[in-house]
Amino acid sequence: MSVSINKITVLGSGVMGHGIAQVSAMAGYTVTLRDIEQSFLDKAMEKIRWSLNKLVEKQKLSQQDADKIFARITPVVDLKTALKGADLLIEAVPEDMNLKKKVYAEVDSFAEDKTLYASNTSTLPITDMAALTSRPERFIGLHFFNPPQLMPLVEVIPGAKSNAGMVDMAMDYCKKVGKQPVLCKKDVPGFIVNRVFIPLVHEAVYCMERDNASMTQIDSAVKFRMSFPMGIFELADYTGLDVIHKATVEMHMRDTKVIFPHPKVKQLFEEKNLGQKTGKGFYEYKGDKYERVN
Ligand code: 3HC
Repeated sequence: MSVSINKITVLGSGVMGHGIAQVSAMAGYTVTLRDIEQSFLDKAMEKIRWSLNKLVEKQKLSQQDADKIFARITPVVDLKTALKGADLLIEAVPEDMNLKKKVYAEVDSFAEDKTLYASNTSTLPITDMAALTSRPERFIGLHFFNPPQLMPLVEVIPGAKSNAGMVDMAMDYCKKVGKQPVLCKKDVPGFIVNRVFIPLVHEAVYCMERDNASMTQIDSAVKFRMSFPMGIFELADYTGLDVIHKATVEMHMRDTKVIFPHPKVKQLFEEKNLGQKTGKGFYEYKGDKYERVN
């Protein structure tokens, strides 16, 4: 399968969707960013503008290039319009199988035959998602990390029916957007990174409880002695306790041996203490720069 990708449609304009749209536009692709409400798209385009300005400020881009990149992204609410001419669809809607089912049914009714499908899911089974669509052999997992603009890694996960050409296409796309793809040969719970990262968050809570270590001690140990860019609790708050909780439930449901959930994560999720975005998670934050309070 030899394909030429020129036009990309990103579904969902949240943290991951707007970042994926931006990195795609930075690589020269024509991008349509789709969400269900104009206000979501306005917010996403504001974030893209902020991110491009940062890159200009740091002299990683010229102002002229930043303006061209921004102009390559068209925000669209109407799904049929958004899918017109798309060579590749990258779905980044919330992690809920019922929602994905609804979205792919709608997508299938408008997508052109040439459109290849990729999902940015972090933990849902690629094979099951592919089976929801009219083209399971042209479906693949393309899992970016937050923030997509800065994180170099992308996991590429073929489903049981994905054809070999899809893997090549995904690898080429990742390289073109300046990322380092890692092929996850098996469609397993949490793929590679979340298989390690999500249990790590729970283990850090067990460590605090069992060994009487404080959050800051644990975070300092991994940050300053193991050179992690963030502490584990800091990273959990940055990622969002909603994301971590949903990934935990999904991974545990698929295989109870891969993770031993600590109830604290569920508790924070149920209390809506989701981390930086709500001002409180494991730590507390203030201001729009998420300055740590404790
Ligand atoms: N675009 C452009 N610039 C950005 C940006 C963006 N989206 N986000 C942050 N920046 C800027 C910051 O504003 C800052 O600018 P400043 O110097 O003017 O203040 C600059 O980048 C550097 O940021 P920081 O000083 O905060 O810190 P770092 O140099 O450490 O870089 C980081 C930030 C890349 C986020 C780094 O801390 C890191 O790698 N953290 C770990 C992130 C990680 O592991 N993500 C994966 C989470 S798991 C996941 O996503 C999977 C999911 O499925 C659960």
